[in-house]
Amino acid sequence: MADMKIQIKNLYKIFGQRPKSVLKHVQDGMSKTELLEKHGHVLGLKDINIDIPAKGVSVIMGLSGSGKSTLIRHINRLIEPTAGEMIVDGEDVLAMGKNKLRDFRRHKASMVFQKFGLHVHRTVAENAAYGLVVQGVKLEEAKKQSQKWVERVGLAGFEDHYPAQLSGGMQQRVGLARALATDAEILLMDEAFSALDPLIRTDMQDVLLGLQDELHKTIVFITHDLDEALRIGDSIAILRDGAVIQQGDPQDIIMHPADDYIVDFIQDINRGRVIRLRTLMDKGTSVEGPSLDQSLNLEEALQVVSNAPGKAANVIDGSGATIGSINLEQVIAGLSRPDVVTNPEARYR
Ligand SMILES: Nc1ncnc2c1ncn2[C@@H]1O[C@H](COP(=O)(O)OP(=O)(O)O)[C@@H](O)[C@H]1O
Ligand SMILES: [Mg+2]
Repeated sequence: MADMKIQIKNLYKIFGQRPKSVLKHVQDGMSKTELLEKHGHVLGLKDINIDIPAKGVSVIMGLSGSGKSTLIRHINRLIEPTAGEMIVDGEDVLAMGKNKLRDFRRHKASMVFQKFGLHVHRTVAENAAYGLVVQGVKLEEAKKQSQKWVERVGLAGFEDHYPAQLSGGMQQRVGLARALATDAEILLMDEAFSALDPLIRTDMQDVLLGLQDELHKTIVFITHDLDEALRIGDSIAILRDGAVIQQGDPQDIIMHPADDYIVDFIQDINRGRVIRLRTLMDKGTSVEGPSLDQSLNLEEALQVVSNAPGKAANVIDGSGATIGSINLEQVIAGLSRPDVVTNPEARYR
């Protein structure tokens, strides 16, 4: 487990007057509804166990009220759990004293918010520098250091603009630049793109994925949107009523949904568009044939693969290295709907 960046163990959060007094009920299986009706407490999180590997994008998905924000806020201890453990880099976040926790939030885990969290009276450059200023860096130096991130997120020339002069997408770019400038290894993104229009949102997903190819941060990304989750997640955990009902490889979730709730989630996705070569390829193999980027979806790959002499292609990463291969049969299998064993009728609804 050495390369697990974040380990969440048996985490419970109950909101109310005396959460610990009703914990036992929840541990014995009492539902969220019953807990509220009988005991007047709100079940926020129930027995969460998630291992988040370093350098990947781990998505936490669920409908509104399922506990996503509550969960991500436990990672940097903006919320104290009712029970459970939060280990980051082998260290118990819940045991940290005030100073240590402050350093942890400033240097280790940066948060990017849905509402951007920008200072309206500060310029783009000042907002981007803000995370460094909080770390104790002088403003001019902080601006210098964060300038490359302002450029990297596509805001060169906008340094002296104020947030109100920018579109939502550009404001969120500032939020991202600010988080990146701190050099934090962990990015906590709570519905960071949810307020954006669909096209701008897709742009921002591309910006994030492009950066991630270079930076390899540990990103915890929250969304209520399955398409977004599938587009950017290396792994996905799905929450319902404060509990994880399925977690793992996005491909596995699409192929083997754990229950009807997840079947409902996935049944309308466009498989050709959401399934990427990287999730379907045979890892570590290579073939005689063309090379396709890992991020291509099945729809984009289909023609190339079917025209290739061997009906197969290599899958390459951002640096051009072959990381696996894929053949026509696999592409077609990926396009077809899975057997939904938990609810056979759901297939033809
Ligand atoms: N401070 C709080 N007091 C009481 N209940 C809360 C509090 N914060 C969140 N909740 C409840 O916990 C549940 C999960 O909320 P939240 O984590 O915000 O969900 P999500 O981010 O998935 O929309 C909801 O039922 C919400 O009403
Ligand atoms: Mg939320």
